[in-house]
Amino acid sequence: MKITEISKGITQLSVNIKDILFESLWEMPNGVTINSYVVKGEKTALVDGVCGWDGVPESLFKLLDEIDVDIKSIEYLVLNHLEPDHAGWIEDLLKVHQDFQVICTDKGADIFEAFFDTDVKVHRVKDGDVIDLGDGKVLSFTTIPHVHWPDAMVSYERSSQVLFTCDAFGSFGIFEKSTVDDAYTDAEILSYERDTIRYYSNIIAAFSPFVLKAIEKLENLEIFAIAPGHGLVWKSRAKKILEDYKTYALYQKGSARKEITLIWGSMYGMTAEAVQFVEKRLKASGIKYHIHQVPETSWGEVLTSVWTSSAVILGMPTYEYKMFPPMSAVLEELGKKKVQGRKAFRFGSYGWSGGAQKELEEINDRLKLNWTFIESYEFKGKARDEDLKIIEGRVTELIDML
Ligand SMILES: Cc1cc2nc3c(=O)[nH]c(=O)nc-3n(C[C@H](O)[C@H](O)[C@H](O)COP(=O)(O)O)c2cc1C
Ligand SMILES: [Fe+2]
Ligand SMILES: [Fe+2]
Repeated sequence: MKITEISKGITQLSVNIKDILFESLWEMPNGVTINSYVVKGEKTALVDGVCGWDGVPESLFKLLDEIDVDIKSIEYLVLNHLEPDHAGWIEDLLKVHQDFQVICTDKGADIFEAFFDTDVKVHRVKDGDVIDLGDGKVLSFTTIPHVHWPDAMVSYERSSQVLFTCDAFGSFGIFEKSTVDDAYTDAEILSYERDTIRYYSNIIAAFSPFVLKAIEKLENLEIFAIAPGHGLVWKSRAKKILEDYKTYALYQKGSARKEITLIWGSMYGMTAEAVQFVEKRLKASGIKYHIHQVPETSWGEVLTSVWTSSAVILGMPTYEYKMFPPMSAVLEELGKKKVQGRKAFRFGSYGWSGGAQKELEEINDRLKLNWTFIESYEFKGKARDEDLKIIEGRVTELIDML
């Protein structure tokens, strides 16, 4: 738990969450923070909340206590996004305080009514609407639909130029030294980037076209700080995180970084032997690569790597006339995130008739992956030297395409 002043009258309350799967699905090796913000004019607004994970409502109440904000003095609860990681605690809030207004979009109000049984007043806002908190503090609102749910909006405090973005421009990771980017060197920020990409690719990626639209909408704002619901507050790097998010969104269609992700699975080691050989070749080439075995590696980890990679190599055998099932499961997930336009190569072992290749072609078409495959290579049983030579040639061809 951490309390940080972002600007005069604007305080961040941040809670650390560890050892859970985000959305009960995505692993977070370095945890995540859930950030709330108190904006104090003559009236007090709380922007976004925290989830019910980990006894968190009590944590938030305690933080409010520590900054001398009586929970009953909150007049506005701004809900930029209704997902329960931010709004789930309202159930607990309602037990102690009902005399406030919820501020959210039209879509947000529908979701609010679906999740909560309460008579609390809900004020629906549109693009450009404002709420004057007095004492110079004015909040204005801009919808950013589908980043990440249809209800999403951002709130902007005009005098301090702080932009509250909830899921947008967020990151995974827990930051011990400070919750503000200014406390870190460029090298440190770079070392956290994989957590930002993990968050982007796992949580936001499917909505990349909407991310681009949102950035366009926000481009002309004067911004002192971007204050998201997860991860660091971006002050000196506010422009950079906007640019980074734009870059990540554009990776969806292909043409990402000069990196290769090798995803592989093997039942009895035949394909695995060829994988070892391919990895040696990749290492020798000096190109940046990621290597993940399935099902041992989580989807989230694989997705993080594939998101930044312009090329993908798949190594898997045939299993019951189809491909090794964990591989098709991962490809289905990549399809749902619309990871398109990669250069790709597949190799693998089979026992008698094969079948993995046919399923791969079917998946590439059905999910509209639009991956450009170099001719696949299958070998019967164990890969012999002549098989490895052909595989090596095709891997070289793939590297040359980058
Ligand atoms: C459960 C199971 C199902 C298989 N189904 C097929 C199949 O439908 N068609 C085929 O050609 N080979 C099939 N095979 C044979 C494997 O593809 C072959 O043994 C291959 O060498 C396994 O490679 P690996 O050691 O990398 O797992 C199957 C093997 C197992 C264990
Ligand atoms: Fe969300
Ligand atoms: Fe969230």
